[in-house]
Order: sequence, then C-alpha cells, then structure tokens
Amino acid sequence: MKTSDSISVKYRKDYKPSAFLINKVSLNFELFDDYAIVTARMMLQANPAAESSGALVLDGEELELQGIEVAGQKLVQEQYEVDSEQLTIWLNKIDGLDYQQASFELVTKVKIYPAQNTSLEGLYLSSEKFCTQCEAEGFRKITYYLDRPDVMSTFTVRIEAEKKKYPHLLSNGNQIEHGSLANGRHYAIWQDPFRKPSYLFALCAGDYDLLEDHFTTRSGREIKLEIYVDKGKLEQCHHAMESLKKSMAWDEEVFGLEYDLDIYMIVAVGDFNMGAMENKGLNIFNTKYVLAHPETATDQDFEDVEAVIAHEYFHNWTGNRVTCRDWFQLSLKEGLTVFRDQQFTADQTDHAVKRIEDVKVIRSHQFAEDAGPMAHPIRPDSYIEMNNFYTVTVYNKGAEVIRMYHTLLGTDGFRRGMDLYFERFDGQAVTCEDFVSAMEDANDYDLIQFRRWYSQAGTPEVTVTSEYDELHKKLTLQIGQACPDTPGQSNKQPFHIPLKLGLLDKDGNDLPLELASNKEQLTGDILHLTEAEQTFEFVGVSHKPVLSLLRNFSAPVRLFYDYNDQELAFLYAHDKDSFNRWEAGQRLFARVIWQLCAEQEAGEPMQFPLHLVNAVQNLLSDESLDGRFKALALTLPDIKALIEEVERVNLDHLIAAHDFLKRELAKQLEMDWLVHYQANHHVGAFKQDKAAIAKRAFAGVCLSYLVALDKPKAYELAVSQLVNSNNMTDAETALQLLMHSNYSQKEQIADDFYRKWQNEELVVNKWLSAQATDPTDSTIERVKGLIEHPAFDIKNPNKVRSVVGAFAGSNLPQFHRNDGKGYVFLAEQIKQLYSVNPQTAARLTGAFNRWKKFDDERQRLMCEQLQGILQLPDLSKDVYEIASKALG
Ligand code: PHE
Ligand code: ZN
Repeated sequence: MKTSDSISVKYRKDYKPSAFLINKVSLNFELFDDYAIVTARMMLQANPAAESSGALVLDGEELELQGIEVAGQKLVQEQYEVDSEQLTIWLNKIDGLDYQQASFELVTKVKIYPAQNTSLEGLYLSSEKFCTQCEAEGFRKITYYLDRPDVMSTFTVRIEAEKKKYPHLLSNGNQIEHGSLANGRHYAIWQDPFRKPSYLFALCAGDYDLLEDHFTTRSGREIKLEIYVDKGKLEQCHHAMESLKKSMAWDEEVFGLEYDLDIYMIVAVGDFNMGAMENKGLNIFNTKYVLAHPETATDQDFEDVEAVIAHEYFHNWTGNRVTCRDWFQLSLKEGLTVFRDQQFTADQTDHAVKRIEDVKVIRSHQFAEDAGPMAHPIRPDSYIEMNNFYTVTVYNKGAEVIRMYHTLLGTDGFRRGMDLYFERFDGQAVTCEDFVSAMEDANDYDLIQFRRWYSQAGTPEVTVTSEYDELHKKLTLQIGQACPDTPGQSNKQPFHIPLKLGLLDKDGNDLPLELASNKEQLTGDILHLTEAEQTFEFVGVSHKPVLSLLRNFSAPVRLFYDYNDQELAFLYAHDKDSFNRWEAGQRLFARVIWQLCAEQEAGEPMQFPLHLVNAVQNLLSDESLDGRFKALALTLPDIKALIEEVERVNLDHLIAAHDFLKRELAKQLEMDWLVHYQANHHVGAFKQDKAAIAKRAFAGVCLSYLVALDKPKAYELAVSQLVNSNNMTDAETALQLLMHSNYSQKEQIADDFYRKWQNEELVVNKWLSAQATDPTDSTIERVKGLIEHPAFDIKNPNKVRSVVGAFAGSNLPQFHRNDGKGYVFLAEQIKQLYSVNPQTAARLTGAFNRWKKFDDERQRLMCEQLQGILQLPDLSKDVYEIASKALG
C-alpha cells in the first residue's frame, strides 16, 4: 500500500524495450494449505534491441525471498537489492559473468501465502482450491520476473501438492508427466510450447468435477475439451461446453482461425475480480460465466455465458498468438476481441437485438466515462494503476472503433486486414498502430485521420441540419462535428466518422442516395464525415424525405438532429434499419420525459401526451417484429443514459417524470399489456429456442407495465409467475418487479425466494441485487442488513457487486437520496474493502465519478465522501487514482 507521495504515473511515451529477455522458464510450485514455495529457473539474455545495463531489475511484490543464484553461484548481499516492488541484481558484480555475450541462468526461490491473498491477484485460494490471476501485473506476486507483456517465454511448470485434497493439478499447455510422491503428495508437469507473456500464465489445483468433450478442427485435429467446476455443478456446465464448440467452429468459419493446442481447459471459480481470463490453454472463469441451467440461470445469463466463453476463446488468436507490447495497447486485444464476440453473439441470436444491447452499454456507461474525470482514449496515454483501465472505453468503445473498420472496409476488406495482421505479427507483442497499418496495407485504404480514434478521448458530437429544395429535388445536409475537452486534452481534431444513413419516402422506403459533387464522400449508404463543418448535397430526391441518421449506430457519437414527434413516430413504425426503429422510440420517449421535467420545473402538473399511445400501440401489435426487439422498443430509456444528455440534472424531476411516463403508458394501454402478456407468457413445459426466449422477453416487459399500475390484480400475476415458474427468467423478472414495487407482501416474497434458493450461490446473488436495486425508501436500511446477512461475504466480488455495486450503480433514487445516506453507505463499504480487494474497491469508487451532474447539495455530499476516502490510511493506489481524479 502506498500514500500519495509514493504514487507514480506511468506514461505511454516512456516505453522502452526490456533490457533483458527470458528465453525459457521453469517454475516449481510446492503447494501447502497455508503457504507455497515457488522456485523459478530462467534463461536470461541481454536484449540486443535495448541498452545494456549491469542491473537486472525484476518485478516482485509480497514475496519472501529465500534464495537466489545466478549462473550456478549463490548470490551474496552486495550483489542484489530487494524492495517492496523489485529485485535488482547487480550482474556486473558477479564474477566471470559475461551477461552481454551469453545467456545465463537465474534461479530464485520465494515463499508466498495464497490463503491470505484476498486481492484475488497472483496465486490465491478460493473455496479450498488454488488458482491464479496474472493479468495485468499479478504474476509478480507469484515470483520475481520481467512482468511485462513484451517479454515472452516458453513455460514448463511443475506443481506438487497433497493428492487427496488437490487431485487435479493444472497449468498451461500439455501435461507431460505426473506421478506420486511420499507423504500422500503428487505432482504434475506441464509444458506450453507457445511463447507467452507472464500475464497468460495460469495454475489451478483442487478437487473438481470435470466435464469432458472434444472438438475436431476443420483440418482434422482432435482437441480435448475440459471444464472443471465445484463438486455438484456438473449439470450446469453443458451450455458452456456447447458454447465453446460453437465458438471454435465460428472462428474457423468467419476468420479461418483454428485452435492450436491439443487441449482446452476451463476452470470455474467463485471468487474472481472480473468475468474470465484467457490464459493460454487454461481459461479461468468466474462461475457466473460458466454455470447455467434453466432453473437457476436466465435467458440473459445463457447469452452472457456463451458470449464470455466465446470472448476468451477468441483471445487465443487476438491476445495470445498476437499480444500487446505494453498495457497502453490493451484495446488491441480487448476492443478487437469484444467486437469478435459481439459478431458471434449476433450470429447466434439476432443482429438488431444484439446491436441495441451493445449500444445501450455505450450510452449508459461509456458516454458517462468519456464525459467524466476518468475519460481516456481507447489507447490511454497514462495511468497510475493499470487495473483501473479495464474500462468500457478500452473494451466497448474499442470494439466500436474496430466495428468502424468493418463498416469502412466491408466484411471482406476487414478479413483481409485480419489475415495480414496475423501474417505479420503472429508470435509477437505489438501495438495498436501495428493493427491499423495491417488494415491500411491490406486494403490500400488511408487511415491517417481514422487514427485519431486512438489518441483523442471524449464522445464526438455530430450536429445535422437539413433543407429540402422541392423545385430542384435537392436535399442539403449541413453536418458539423466537435468533441468536448477531456482531462488533459483540448482542441480536438475532427474524426473520420462513418455516418450510415437513409432517406425515407412517405411509405418508409429508402430513396436512392446520390451526391451532387464530391462523390467520394459517400460510399454505399455511408457518408464520410472528416471535417468540422461539411455540406452534402443529395440530388434526385423525389420528395421531402424523413432522415434516418446514424443507422445501426455506425459510429460512437452523439447525434443531434431536430426531429419532430411525427418524424420519430414514423421512423418508429417504418425504418428498415431496426436499430434506428428502436432509436426513434427512445428519442420519442426521451422527448416526453424532458418535457415532463420542464413542466415540473415550471410548477405545472405533468401532462401525458396522448400521441404516444398510438405509436406504442402500433408497435405492440406489430406481428412482424421479434419479441426481444419489441421488449427493447417498449422499454423506456435508461435514466443513466438520460442523465448524460444534459449538462446538469434535477434527478428528482427526472425520476418522477420517468415513473409518471411508465405509469401513464401502463394505464392508457392496460388491456393491451394484459392481452399481450397472456398471449406470450407461457406455462407448461420449458423451451429455450429463439421463439420461446423472445416470448419470455416480451411478456416480461408487458408484466413490468402491469405491475406499474400498482394494482392487486397485477401483483397477483407477478406472484403467480414467480411461484409457478419452472425457469429463472420468469422467476427473476417477477421477483425484481415485486421487490421494486409497493406490493405489501414483498418481505414474504423475498424470504420465500431465499429459502428456496439459499444453496445456489448465483441465484442468491440475484436475490441480493433485486433488493439492493429496490428504488423505494426502505432500501437503505435493507442494504445495511444485507451486508450483515450470512449470504454476504465482502471477500467475494460477485457478492459485493450484487449488493454494493448494484445499489450504487443501478439504484439511482436510493444511492442519490438527498439525505446523503446512500453516499455514506457506499463510502463505508469502500473503507471496508480497499485493503481486502483494492481492485473491486476502486470499481465501486467510480460510482462517484459523475458527481458534477447533480445539484449543489448532492455534489457537496458526494465530494465529502470522496475526500473522506482520500484520507484513509494506506490507501491503495487503485482507489487513490479514482478518488483523486474524481475530485480533480
Ligand atoms: N483479459 C480478461 C478478458 O477480457 C479480463 C481480465 C482482466 C480478467 C484482468 C482478469 C484480470 O477477457
Ligand atoms: Zn478480453
């Protein structure tokens, strides 16, 4: 732990190649219940591409050094120095060592304490099983090493442990040997033939249930597939296994990429900071993204499991075979791999629905990050703690940037770029720039300006005005772009923005697109915005069109265009671009919500605009639409996304307007919601095909409107759905709706649910978060109770996220209570957590980031908590970075 004086900032511009390389490494792990001995034997060599120096500086934290040898000589005190972060070896003080000419061997021996490691970084114990997490800089908590992604080596790993307690001993690559030892112990040796950076190292040891399967690659290689889970959970692994096989087939089909080892293992652990980790040949997963059974997991959980399995699998090429030179390049692997998993999921489910879901994440979370104190480009320029940069910007905006290549170059052009990327860089640690140049060279396409997406933070704002000339059948679009200043960056240069558009005639058909001049500015239906102000003249526009702009959300920007209600209702009913159909509905709802806010501001009663009824009713009864699409198109915009639309928000008015609109729509269309609920809610045998999933999604939204009526009849429906359901999708929907309502028996509902599911940890987490997100007043007391509940455990990140994360991140009314109790609660939890698990504590701290959006009193209350956090003794640098940047 450090205080602010010892906190240093790392800069991208300071990159230097490592002074030494590691050609190969052998690790020996002797595992015991309360400690482990790690012996590392590595062949080092001075890096010909770097300045040579007499000092070999290895990273290492929380290690007890027990011995150190170089080239067979035991080192004495003057030959090395150890501090809390590094081991420095003075090679020039070692007799007869010509480290500049020849490679030499280093052996170190350290003692570590996995059972006491609550940070869940490095080697730790989780429910009596050992596991590791090394990305980004966790390997240095296992042994002294050059812990940086551009140092790649082949690994041989020997693990020994008590046989009875830890029958499975796993590491990367292939098992080459195993056997018994004295004292009831045994060992296994693993060898990974692929050179890899330390962050991809993994080790697991424990007693698991194992699901086995296999996959034949298209070149005919047989791959063993293994999923290791806690005892008793085998029944919940089949979906993960199927997802893995689908992912393997998809990557062959779409990108021509085959798996390269003979075995692929997945281990599920209950205590994990993130979703999952792509360690070579041995992925480690949060149980949440492996286990799925219809009784305990929702349709959304199934989709998430499939997506995360795919994501980690896809990393084998985008991340492992080609890795990052340094952590500033993180988006090189993450943005690309998220894009790949998004495409995969779209292919398995529905392209429009998936696109809408992904854009919702961008709008509610990434836009907020881009507009807040932590704003950074997808390739950051600096950081204090790398763990704080596993962000929606690096991941999701990064994926949007990759998607823009796909939009600009087309499917084939994108594939050509990928092929060249692998051809050039397989086996190397490279940069975002290397990726851009591969795309550029493979397509002979100029991406000079496009590169600004990597260097400039902030969300570009695109403003469009239009003018139709009836006489000459001309449509003129004036389009401006600007990007707000972000911390450390002002005066941004224009981006290359692909703006996909359509011009609709009065029947909703697309009119042909043709520019009068500068025809290269339009390719297909993509308009290329490249300047701060541009004018585009479309000719042959037979009559005044309705504009469908930024179709499919073709760029991560905010679009401003002065639509009127009729145009929006028209697009909501007719746009051929499903994304923009949804978008038109969201804009329509948002306009109403802001209008209702204005009425409150003026001290007037809120008025429900009846024109909405028609629009919603039409959509509701459109038989041609998919149920999941309908569910999305009938859901009001997220309050978080709405907050990002304004400079400062009156949160009380916004929440009141949102509630009012929901209730009014519920009332005005009461019979419709009921009829559609009944037509789509299914009782009887459970099915999980696309049609059944769509019906559940649609029925769920109908039920949410019915419950908003606050009537006994509606509560009865929800209760009956909960009690009679044979699947978690219906159960969780009903549970949440009831817990978030004024239903008088909700305590009873909560108790019954807990009693039924108390032994299914992931379901208990749903129960926790359903309560933590209850927007009603009693929740603040309830959450305080929940953290005392036996089901809660501050050392388990899933629990922390289910209660504290859900409360601070998704319960706006209660987190932002005007008495400040929500903020105090969050700060209290951060205080409990920062020394236990700094990474998770820092994530929670981010909930204060948008304090500037709120009224003076809330601002004051939030800053008070942030200041308190900064005063904490031995504050971790993770939390320090977030809190100090928030206060600016
Ligand atoms: N690299 C992981 C992924 O995106 C995420 C991760 C980062 C997991 C850091 C653990 C620690 O797939
Ligand atoms: Zn990833």
